[in-house]
Amino acid sequence: MCGALRPSDAGKKAVLMGWVNRRRDLGNIIFIDLRDRTGVTQIVVNIELNAAIHEKAEQLRNEYVVAVIGTVKKRDADTINKNIPTGEVELVAEELRILNVSKPLPFLPSDTVLANEEMRLKYRYLDLRRDAMQFNIELRHKVALAIRDYLSSAGFFEIETPFMTRSTPEGARDYLVPSRVQPGTFYALPQSPQLFKQILMISGFDKYFQIVRCFRDEDLRADRQPEFTQIDLEMSYPQPERVWEVVEGFLTAAFKAAGHEIKTPFPRMDYDDAIRQYGVDKPDLRLPAFTEVRDCFAPADLEQLAINKDLPVIAIRTPKVGELSRKERDDIKPLFVSKGGARVFEDFKRIENKFPEAGAKVRQKAGAAADDLLVLVVGSAQSGRDDHPAGKRKVTPAELAIYASAGILRVALAQKYADRHGIFKKSGDPEKDFCFLWVTNFPMFEYDENERRWVAAHHPFTSPHDEDMDKLETDPAMVRALAYDVVLNGTELGSGSIRIHRQDIQRQVFKALAMTEEEARSRFGFFLEALEYGTPPHGGIALGLDRIVMILAGADSLREVIPFPKTAAAKDLMCEAPTPVAAGQLRELGIGVVAKK
Ligand code: AMO
Repeated sequence: MCGALRPSDAGKKAVLMGWVNRRRDLGNIIFIDLRDRTGVTQIVVNIELNAAIHEKAEQLRNEYVVAVIGTVKKRDADTINKNIPTGEVELVAEELRILNVSKPLPFLPSDTVLANEEMRLKYRYLDLRRDAMQFNIELRHKVALAIRDYLSSAGFFEIETPFMTRSTPEGARDYLVPSRVQPGTFYALPQSPQLFKQILMISGFDKYFQIVRCFRDEDLRADRQPEFTQIDLEMSYPQPERVWEVVEGFLTAAFKAAGHEIKTPFPRMDYDDAIRQYGVDKPDLRLPAFTEVRDCFAPADLEQLAINKDLPVIAIRTPKVGELSRKERDDIKPLFVSKGGARVFEDFKRIENKFPEAGAKVRQKAGAAADDLLVLVVGSAQSGRDDHPAGKRKVTPAELAIYASAGILRVALAQKYADRHGIFKKSGDPEKDFCFLWVTNFPMFEYDENERRWVAAHHPFTSPHDEDMDKLETDPAMVRALAYDVVLNGTELGSGSIRIHRQDIQRQVFKALAMTEEEARSRFGFFLEALEYGTPPHGGIALGLDRIVMILAGADSLREVIPFPKTAAAKDLMCEAPTPVAAGQLRELGIGVVAKK
């Protein structure tokens, strides 16, 4: 391979095949950098040694595919290239075959400046030839293999579940596949193998996993693709801790395969605490938590500042931002997204000037150094009425609005000043670079304002906490779920739960969700029936493989770690999917297309 030769090979014959990465023509001598997946080797073609080969080498252009037979030679000391592993040798060509030619390329794999993303995706095969993409795809392979090996040795079977199935309960829109044989009916591509993996527990395969493609028609973001890959698993009789142990085990193996030692067990945090300290259920622990500073202000101060005295007053500290100019302070406000009633004081200096005593207390309580930025998020004097059905929660909706607004701002500020604090830069210390966390004790239900009813926060097959069963009907806001998320650096890597294995409880949960028995039967009848035939207690989780690899690759979009991804408009720019299909094909399926207004 083109990355293999070393000085110890000097004098040996070698055959290399690959692409012309670069050709330098010095007249009598032509240098060719020959590239394959493993690296680059310099080929030397000398007119004095072989004029016929030299003539052929003159025809070579970028990305021609060639085979070279030659003798390995150590380079002279002054021509050694320390930047590549093969830099101490070259191959003196004795035979050269042009295996294929290439058209002039829209961009070169060796270009240091990246083509724009549209070009990269249209010519994905060329983009994938770049070192960075080769690295990411190899990394993906190694990570998936390490996980597979780990789970297999831990007694899990990899079992395939269907892609042509019916709607699953993950709550996004389905991709549908029309049936030709049963006109007017459709398969749904699975949003996850959720029901099948639970059925596998009923079938006695007590440890299942699958590295599996899932399909969701939802709005795309940098960390979402319409088809993505889950590491999906399920086991019989587990406590949540047992599931976490398995996940920590395979993540350790995966990170090791990528060259990182991570520490387990991961810290754990209650959902309510995550909200109170970070304003999100997937906190980035690399950044400081909030500080609640209401008690630093005298009641008169709060009144003068029109701050709601019953709601949290949150100080967000962003380290090492330094002095901000007036204009820079004005740039903070647009980062603030108010989730109902929350206000921001982006100019803490002004508060300090006006209320020096409170200002000093806040600084001290938040542990703010002189060059740290402090910003306050508060409730406005008018907000704070909690007559909402979810109002009985430990964190009330009015409080949640403040925490959530502060949570978004905390991350936005950290991103804005990333160059100054350097927290997001890899330090080489896995404990600082990879902050894992289990978030547990999620609420079982969320209140849907539009539909004016409770919906499942995870999915309707998640088990409520044993102690909260009695509140299912009387006080759904207070029911906690046996659900957990694994979070890494502020990204949700995975979600799972202990499931309901008893029909009577399943029925109560559907009732709490205002789902009639008929509705439940028509959507999940087959599954509800299966539950009635001796279902063992079971639970599991699914992690996004793409997200794991994205973080390991230091990439900021899933597109960097998926060989053939879709754009934000869910298009494949290379093969131009989706496309209209021939009228005959539609006719056969009994489908007519109506233009959308
Ligand atoms: P959930 O819907 O939370 O749970 O998905 C689990 C994990 O899958 C990844 N993921 C995605 N990755 C890329 N693009 C997407 N569109 C996308 N959607 C989800 C995330 C997420 O954490 N059946 C349950 C799991 C269970 O209960 O066992 C499920 O699918 O990393």
